[in-house]
Amino acid sequence: MKKLESREDIELLVNAFYAKVIDDETIGLFFKDIVKVDWDLHLPKMYSFWETILFGQMSYKGNPMSMHFPVNKIKAMEKHHFERWLQLWKLTIEENFTGENASMAITKSENIANLMSYKMEMARKQ
Ligand code: HEM
Repeated sequence: MKKLESREDIELLVNAFYAKVIDDETIGLFFKDIVKVDWDLHLPKMYSFWETILFGQMSYKGNPMSMHFPVNKIKAMEKHHFERWLQLWKLTIEENFTGENASMAITKSENIANLMSYKMEMARKQ
């Protein structure tokens, strides 16, 4: 199994992940119906996001949380959606990569997803 160590590896990982997400019964609708994602824009953002997190390359300049509040307003992003997101992300990593960065990609995603889940829940109570 390969180590996760280059921009090309991240591209492969992110592409394989969204291939699963799109057809997924639990979270696919967020990307196909709630937001009609422009993949030519979204995918490069996600490559840069993970490159920044894993390799410290400061190529991502956005705010990962703020993009999700408008989505959450249209359809509640609930705990079970985040659990499914994490399940697919972990599965895609484990199918393709091994090593320290692969583990870090899992740990970081868990932290962000848990925080995001909490923030979305709080936003719905306001
Ligand atoms: C149920 C879980 C999630 C759903 C349904 C979801 C959905 C979305 C959608 C619809 C977009 C907007 C795409 C567009 O611009 O057209 C987006 C953007 C994004 N998401 Fe998520 N997301 C989820 C969880 C996460 C998690 C856990 C992370 C990080 C580990 C993440 C990171 C991002 C980033 C970095 C962007 C791009 C923000 C920007 O434009 O700068 N998402 N997401």
